[in-house]
Amino acid sequence: MQRLRTFLDNHCKDSDVADIIDGLMVACKDISHRLHLGALAGVLGSAGQENVQGESQKMLDVISNDLIKDCLAAMPCVKGLASEEEPDPVACNPDGDYLVLFDPLDGSSNIDVNVTVGTIFSILKAAPGAAGGDEATYLQKGSKQVAAGYVLYGPSTLLVFSTGEGVHSFTLDPRIGEFVLQREHIQVPAETQEFAINMSNQRFWLPEMQSYVGDLLKGEEGPLGKRYNMRWIASMVAEIHRILTRGGIFMYPFDNRDPAKPGKLRLMYEGNPMSMLIEQAGGKASTAFEDIMEVDPEAIHQRVSVVMGSSAEVEKACSYHK
Ligand code: AHG
Ligand code: MN
Ligand code: MN
Ligand code: MN
Repeated sequence: MQRLRTFLDNHCKDSDVADIIDGLMVACKDISHRLHLGALAGVLGSAGQENVQGESQKMLDVISNDLIKDCLAAMPCVKGLASEEEPDPVACNPDGDYLVLFDPLDGSSNIDVNVTVGTIFSILKAAPGAAGGDEATYLQKGSKQVAAGYVLYGPSTLLVFSTGEGVHSFTLDPRIGEFVLQREHIQVPAETQEFAINMSNQRFWLPEMQSYVGDLLKGEEGPLGKRYNMRWIASMVAEIHRILTRGGIFMYPFDNRDPAKPGKLRLMYEGNPMSMLIEQAGGKASTAFEDIMEVDPEAIHQRVSVVMGSSAEVEKACSYHK
């Protein structure tokens, strides 16, 4: 049995990064505990307010955000944080070198129906002399991420992360309150017959995406020549974990529902960290036109089109957009 802290000490070149991942897990264990108590902890239901994304917040969106914020603010190496649930970046320790960006609770529409949710994080280095509350210092391409990961709260609680040298997973052992190593150097199979997309948005997609998904649905009689299966959990963490486990393609593509939001998912809290994990595991992550991690961010809450997963299938999807 290898504990998370031992693994981090042996694998992280920078002890600050090890401290951040280890420290984040204090909040995530608390979130996991509350989620598993569910109604008994009085944490289900709506918070009765909207976040900066224009989404109605669940009580657990707010609680998880506060737990992670408090935990990061106490770390000397954290200069600042940015969250899906916070209107602006928050300055922490002026002497810290790192910025932590996070989606405190991903898939939160699943909470009240007792289905898998997650926490996603991305770690960036702050520019020397930058202020932790300054949005500009966060606007770095995904390729600059020092580390990224997620915690999945499912039948068991898992941590999956990368510091740029492969993707590793850990299971929370509730008997001892520790994450223990489960799998090292996870690889996504290049080929797949499983896709994930919210089909109810079909009429809003670009014609290229309609044509690709149309061909997926044609099965072995269509130009792709195989029968596909479909899954949609409505939690990106759960979908990406399935893909890391058995392959697949996950898409939340451009749509024309709202011209101000080219896609639903957020580049800094969802697109970039998940792209780092997928690519570190040998998969591909694209907007359908360019690598997600090469998108130059212009705003902290920017949305992005997402097509990621098994490399051969993502390339196929992108080939319809050439
Ligand atoms: P969040 O709960 O953090 O706002 O994210 C929800 C995201 C993502 O996890 C999921 O893939 C997608 O939204 C679900 O969207 P639909 O509601 O369109 O199914
Ligand atoms: Mn949300
Ligand atoms: Mn999310
Ligand atoms: Mn969220």
